[in-house]
Amino acid sequence: MSALAARETIDFLVLGGGVAGLSFALEAAGRGSVLVLTKRVRSEGSTQYAQGGIASVLGPDDDFQKHVDDTLVAGAGLCHRDAVEVTVREGPERIRWLLSLGVEFDRQGGELHLTREGGHSRRRVAHAKDTTGREVERALLAACDARGVRILEDQVAVDLVSSAKAGLPGPNRILGAYVLDRASGEISTVLAGQTVLATGGAGKVYLYTSNPDVATGDGVAMAWRAGAAVANMEFFQFHPTCLFHPLAKSFLISEALRGEGGILRNRAGEAFMSRYDPRKELAPRDIVARSIDAEMKRRGDESAFLDMTHLPKPFLLEHFPNIYATCREYGVDMAVQPIPVVPAAHYLCGGVVTDLDGQTSVPGLVAIGEVSCTGLHGANRLASNSLLEGLVFGHRAALRAAPAPRGAEAARVPDWNPGNALDPDEGVVVAQNWEEVRRLMWNYVGIVRTGKRLTRAHTRLELLRREIREYYWQYKVTPDLVELRNLADVAMLIVECARRRKESRGLHYTLDYPKPDDREPHDTVIAPGELA
Ligand code: FAD
Ligand code: SIN
Repeated sequence: MSALAARETIDFLVLGGGVAGLSFALEAAGRGSVLVLTKRVRSEGSTQYAQGGIASVLGPDDDFQKHVDDTLVAGAGLCHRDAVEVTVREGPERIRWLLSLGVEFDRQGGELHLTREGGHSRRRVAHAKDTTGREVERALLAACDARGVRILEDQVAVDLVSSAKAGLPGPNRILGAYVLDRASGEISTVLAGQTVLATGGAGKVYLYTSNPDVATGDGVAMAWRAGAAVANMEFFQFHPTCLFHPLAKSFLISEALRGEGGILRNRAGEAFMSRYDPRKELAPRDIVARSIDAEMKRRGDESAFLDMTHLPKPFLLEHFPNIYATCREYGVDMAVQPIPVVPAAHYLCGGVVTDLDGQTSVPGLVAIGEVSCTGLHGANRLASNSLLEGLVFGHRAALRAAPAPRGAEAARVPDWNPGNALDPDEGVVVAQNWEEVRRLMWNYVGIVRTGKRLTRAHTRLELLRREIREYYWQYKVTPDLVELRNLADVAMLIVECARRRKESRGLHYTLDYPKPDDREPHDTVIAPGELA
């Protein structure tokens, strides 16, 4: 497919090719010209690695109210009921849509086979073995190809084009994005009637994460810099069980294993969850992750263990072939021995604030999928609700999409100005700062927080961000530098939100205020222009 021209104009510019971006693109394709850009190869993103599946009301013993209630309980008082209702009610139709695109979910006797995960009162997770995301991404990309949706790989959005920054009169609005071509190093100006952020999460802001390398929070950082409201960044979800092995980078051990009766044990072999929560292994994720963390710290163990040996090997091979094979590669046979596991950063519940159609606080800018904060997840996401959110909000945002008239203002948008930027000659600065941001976030802003640690993180980040800013404007922009700048901005937004929340709720747990303050449950909103 042809590369980007130095200057392009399009109706709908979609940044991101995961479940959210591709759902939007497929629906919007009939309404105007669509361009999807992805930072690396087009399938690379969290969607591709999703294991457990997609939660929706599909079983005979289930109903909308139960899914709504489970989501609200997990969300610890901060879910927006309207967002939850919309997502739950539109879920089954989105699953049927995926089926119509050829997604091969597992079946049992002709019906969809449903798994169960923590926080769900029913079996309601549709899945394709333990590689659901790979199957969904395959089908969405195939549908895009069949409809001729233009997708370009290795294109890194550097910043949004905002009318305010471009010096145009009138209220601030988003007019497109500046995009760096990984191969040529050139930066194009892509002008769009509507710019859609579908850039996914930010797990790479922490040292240990289940997320792929592209999850560097670019969308949140770009939207915040362009003047969009951002909220609830303190609610970073840690998945309780990632494989603990020095060579295993980011490999998730799905919650569906606990749904099939997996037991968490400490190194002494004791099942410890009943000491922390009556729901034991199926308590919501924040509780399970904190319990593992506490148990490891209490005993000085470097990991916990997930015991699946109660299930016969043929069952494990049938339902979890990818997890079985990957554990085997690292010398663990889950049919006969417990799997060593640790919690790791997994999902960003906060993000760019949107309404029920994905519209942000800045005209011309839409946010969908993990980059957004729709109100669905509140203080803690219910397992397998995020692919669902990407499907529902990708679709809803596209239904509302209409090509905007292209005024003469587009011609007045300046191209990217590299100034006197030199070729970077100090890669070590980027590597050092990248490592420092991720380590300080892990140590100071992790599963259990304190005000003192947050202040330390804040002070360090101020210095790092200043250094990164200076470096950024002195040297030519590279993908690594773009990501580092975004990670540092996202880290700052997480710390800022965490410092503002004077209570423990959902995923935000601080020893200074160990209980929720139920007088006034509220979102933590960073309004445009509030922080430098
Ligand atoms: P992604 O799928 O992450 O896609 C992001 C896209 O944005 C990519 O194409 C990337 O290249 C692009 N991008 C990013 N930055 C830029 C930039 N600057 N310029 C251009 N493009 C950019 N959720 C569930 O509901 N069920 C599950 O079973 C489940 N399992 C999971 C397992 C793992 C290991 C992980 C990591 C997550 C899992 N999740 C699961 C969460 C879920 O997968 C994600 O929340 C969801 O896939 C996010 O989709 P998305 O479309 O928002 O973003
Ligand atoms: C998992 O399979 O445990 C991941 C599910 C999710 O993140 O929603």
